[in-house]
Amino acid sequence: MKQFKSNLPILIDKFSQHSLYKNSLMSHFEKEELMKENYEEDSIYKVDWNRSQNFQRPWVEMIYKDLHKHFLKYANHMGFKDCNINELWFQQYDKKATHSWHTHGHNYTGVYYVNYNKDCAKTRIIDPITKETKDIDADEGDIVIFPSIIVHRSLVQNIDFLKTIISFNISFDGINHEWISFNKKKYYRFNNFRNFYWTYKRSGGNE
Ligand SMILES: [Fe+2]
Repeated sequence: MKQFKSNLPILIDKFSQHSLYKNSLMSHFEKEELMKENYEEDSIYKVDWNRSQNFQRPWVEMIYKDLHKHFLKYANHMGFKDCNINELWFQQYDKKATHSWHTHGHNYTGVYYVNYNKDCAKTRIIDPITKETKDIDADEGDIVIFPSIIVHRSLVQNIDFLKTIISFNISFDGINHEWISFNKKKYYRFNNFRNFYWTYKRSGGNE
């Protein structure tokens, strides 16, 4: 099997309303009943995955509009017109908690780091091209997105700090044709330059 060389479209950007919502999100999560959803090696302190399609949850209603606006920035960057939020849920990790290797549905997934510091368990991914593991270097308030087929996990939380994230399954949709023609122009410009360069070299030109 042959493989095209490509870079992974993994994007990370600060959620600009993070400081506005953080405390409120944390108190919403504190009020939620303790729901564990642990399979095999997973040990997650609190999670509301079983309600991930309920968009009437108070914390979801609070941030939905701004989160969607944030996702549209990624859509714009990758040449899509829209982004649908299919599922949204929070997860909390106390000391020793972990989430083992898994993938998601829909075309993109990701992590919003709501309560997080540099010593917290990182998100580890397996690069599907190189098969290498890579840890996402994120700060609190960052939202990272990556294609849903990327195998990933949360490492073990080794410190006494309630790592809190919001995860999601989203679908980018609607091809932005202006974006495609813009990139096509760039590609043609590059090819023209390359052809010029090789013609010049073949005709005995120096670099
Ligand atoms: Fe995940």
